[in-house]
Amino acid sequence: MSAISSSGQGGRVGVPAFAVVPGLQVQHALEGREKEIVELVEATYRLHAAGVSVNPPSYFLRFPDRPSDRIIALPASVGGPLQVDGLKWISSFPENVAAGIPRASAVLVLNDHATGYPFACMEASIISAARTAASAAVAADRLSRGRPRPVRVGFFGVGLIARYIHTFLTATGWSFDETGVHDLSAESAAGFCGYLAQSGDASRVTVHDSPEDLVRHSDLVVFATVAGRPHVFDSSWFQHNPVVLHVSLRDLAPEVILASVNVVDDVEHCLRADTSPHLAEQLTGNRDFLLGTLDDVLSARVAVPADRPVVFSPFGLGVLDLAVGKYVYDEVARSGELHVVDDFFHELQRYG
Ligand SMILES: NC(=O)c1ccc[n+]([C@@H]2O[C@H](COP(=O)([O-])OP(=O)(O)OC[C@H]3O[C@@H](n4cnc5c(N)ncnc54)[C@H](O)[C@@H]3O)[C@@H](O)[C@H]2O)c1
Repeated sequence: MSAISSSGQGGRVGVPAFAVVPGLQVQHALEGREKEIVELVEATYRLHAAGVSVNPPSYFLRFPDRPSDRIIALPASVGGPLQVDGLKWISSFPENVAAGIPRASAVLVLNDHATGYPFACMEASIISAARTAASAAVAADRLSRGRPRPVRVGFFGVGLIARYIHTFLTATGWSFDETGVHDLSAESAAGFCGYLAQSGDASRVTVHDSPEDLVRHSDLVVFATVAGRPHVFDSSWFQHNPVVLHVSLRDLAPEVILASVNVVDDVEHCLRADTSPHLAEQLTGNRDFLLGTLDDVLSARVAVPADRPVVFSPFGLGVLDLAVGKYVYDEVARSGELHVVDDFFHELQRYG
């Protein structure tokens, strides 16, 4: 920490040093740590459910002239053993992909619990992808208990998030006989198949041109498209009762939601911004179609019926970004490689 004074984090109260953590360091800190990150994300869900967090609604900045683009602010605070506040500021510009750069870009600012001072600005698209994939891995494991363990996975929309989810599933013990791939873009499908081949995945890989075939051939279905409104309407595609990780949130028509068992990360967060569960609420005028939260399942407050499809719709909570971001920050600090910006906070004497 800073030469100015020690950090508020455990030291005496003072102005902390300010560090910038680039993506390369983030990636190194997370690589090969998938199991730890999954445990951290699960523990953070439990802290959130126990009320040891503050996680107001995400704020969506949208542009009238660019309706498919958005920048979302996710402020949050986690207590318990983590003790960190902060903000993720994440852009989604889907057209970026055609220009050869990722859709999402983000920074995460960590704030000191004691003084409120920001002490790190971190590259956060990797943190965001990792926490999303870790949450999907927790859900895949917990929601498939009590039914035959899925051996056929299907990825519906195969960009960066699908890649991270596959990596986290395989790193936490999943192996599949078959991997189905469906994407509107043949280039994306080919790119994902290339990733699968070099990842050492031994499953039989099939690219399905038909979305129906992908769903019907998968007992674990991962939606990671950029669809802004539902495009899957037929609940009969799901009559084999798969586990569905509805990470992209807006793919399923209310009819599919209503024919399924529904689990969310946080009810108030997920039932807004025209997600599929939000549309189902608007259609029915109630929330009876929700079984509960993932924490309800983790804590065995609810049991997941096996005789219907189960759909997990995670809105994505800022507390998860903070938990994973703090983990990365601590790893980089421990390695002695923090890039501290000297004199970042400058006007420190009240009267000059
Ligand atoms: N819930 C969460 O916490 C969370 C967190 C991060 C990302 N996400 C969501 O995950 C999604 C994927 O993100 P990404 O970075 O991988 O995006 P990406 O742009 O890299 O990939 C998306 C892919 O989906 C494909 N696609 C779009 N519409 C489709 C459709 N109707 N059918 C089939 N394929 C379709 C595109 O061709 C593209 O290959 C986004 O919607 C993002 O908002 C959710």
